[in-house]
Amino acid sequence: MGLTYFKRFRMEIDLVSRTITPPQPPAGYRLLAWDDSLLEAHAEAKYQSFRSEIDSNVFPCLGDWLGCQRLMQEIRAKQGFLPGATWLLAYETASDQLEYCGTVQGIRDYTGVGAIQNLGITPEHRSRNLGTCLLLNALAGFQAAGMRRGYLEVTAQNAGAIRLYGRIGFTKARTVYKAVEVAYS
Ligand SMILES: CC(C)(COP(=O)(O)OP(=O)(O)OC[C@H]1O[C@@H](n2cnc3c(N)ncnc32)[C@H](O)[C@@H]1OP(=O)(O)O)[C@@H](O)C(=O)NCCC(=O)NCCS
Repeated sequence: MGLTYFKRFRMEIDLVSRTITPPQPPAGYRLLAWDDSLLEAHAEAKYQSFRSEIDSNVFPCLGDWLGCQRLMQEIRAKQGFLPGATWLLAYETASDQLEYCGTVQGIRDYTGVGAIQNLGITPEHRSRNLGTCLLLNALAGFQAAGMRRGYLEVTAQNAGAIRLYGRIGFTKARTVYKAVEVAYS
């Protein structure tokens, strides 16, 4: 076994100097507020969003369905879990079924700052402004809860996500390194 280090950025946004108007999703999509009955649906959207992405190397649980389910249970159980900053996106299919295609969760950390967790959109639904829509709804949830700042961490190689966060107003606050155990063959 050995250790690999992934470079990540902590990005922050000031929530006092801006009013965030949470957008509605485009036609055909539904934004679902948190309900405990949706925990598995969040886990499914998380798994489908992250399973083939760089972050499933950084956090192996993201590449595993049961890992995503456990992660959702841990997030739900945190003292600072914020239902108002936690959103699920569903696509209405032609046969009137709901396909869960996006997820984000929000937590108030121990310093009172809003922490965005695992923003993800499934591959078939990307580049339709849905990631932006989910993130803005989560940030509006932080504002509604009276929080003054928000932050997230993003892997440095994830250029698309970093662009999205920059457009919304996040700036890089510091660089952190995440150590991950890897098996050498
Ligand atoms: C990062 C992620 C959430 C972005 O989701 P998304 O729904 O594609 O995001 P958006 O559509 O809001 O914006 C992404 C891009 O689509 C473009 N876009 C948005 N609406 C568009 C439209 N209607 N037509 C064409 N392009 C559009 C944006 O300009 C942006 O382009 P850019 O990459 O050049 O900056 C998604 O790629 C994902 O889930 N990745 C894997 C998981 C992950 O890494 N999550 C981040 C963890 S920190």
